[in-house]
Amino acid sequence: MCIFSYKEKEIFFSFQLIVCAFSFIGMPGMTAYFGFYQVCSPKKGEHVYISAASGAVGQLVGQFAKLMGCYVVGSAGSKEKVDLLKNKFGFDEAFNYKEEPDLNAALGRYFPEGIDIYFENVGGKMLDAVLPNMRLRGRIAVCGMISQYNLDKPEGVFNLMTVVYKRVRIEGFVVTDYYDQYPKFLDFVLPCIREGKIEYVEDISEGLENGPAALVGLFSGQNVGKKLVVVARE
Ligand SMILES: NC(=O)c1ccc[n+]([C@@H]2O[C@H](COP(=O)([O-])OP(=O)(O)OC[C@H]3O[C@@H](n4cnc5c(N)ncnc54)[C@H](OP(=O)(O)O)[C@@H]3O)[C@@H](O)[C@H]2O)c1
Repeated sequence: MCIFSYKEKEIFFSFQLIVCAFSFIGMPGMTAYFGFYQVCSPKKGEHVYISAASGAVGQLVGQFAKLMGCYVVGSAGSKEKVDLLKNKFGFDEAFNYKEEPDLNAALGRYFPEGIDIYFENVGGKMLDAVLPNMRLRGRIAVCGMISQYNLDKPEGVFNLMTVVYKRVRIEGFVVTDYYDQYPKFLDFVLPCIREGKIEYVEDISEGLENGPAALVGLFSGQNVGKKLVVVARE
């Protein structure tokens, strides 16, 4: 039984399309795609770690890495998010970084043979813990450092010497550099969506008045997936 009129259906589907355009077929999707495939230079079977993994970008990076045949572990800040990573997005393992008193040891548990690729969303203590766990010729794609954005003084990183003796490549990137390659991204991602190979979770707040709280919530992990604020549905 269809409960929508034709007009309502039209509004509903154009709303869905706008939501998609802001999420997996938009900026976060492109960030995940170019950050992973171009900056990380991944190979089948490699060991991939993603921080802030349930976020708009991280959830896609993990799924792209699984499609490539990698072993994938993500971290996030709640049990709900950890369950999502393992049960919806198909990560091999996931852990709640807030419950790990020693991040270095936690990473050693999940990556006894080391990390080939670290997709960096968090920075600070997390980056410091990752460095000693990197494998020879590992790659770190620096997408963001959300833990540092609101600090008066950024935290230091102390384990940088690892970069030398393990020949690790650390490379930052900004998604706008890849906007001219949007058709290439769509050629990849649209079939994935059509064939049900990619899952995506959004977190929608209704009403412009909830915009400030939605923004602030990103920094305490209140969002699950891409945070969107609906100003109007028509
Ligand atoms: N380079 C680029 O072109 C580009 C483009 C888009 C985004 N970015 C960056 O990529 C990163 C991820 O963005 P996104 O849109 O995927 O994220 P998002 O959906 O906005 O989610 C942010 C998540 O970060 C985690 N977080 C917040 N504060 C944290 C802290 N102090 N320590 C650890 N985790 C924290 C929270 O999850 P938990 O509950 O897991 O803590 C939060 O839900 C951000 O750093 C963003 O600035 C870069």
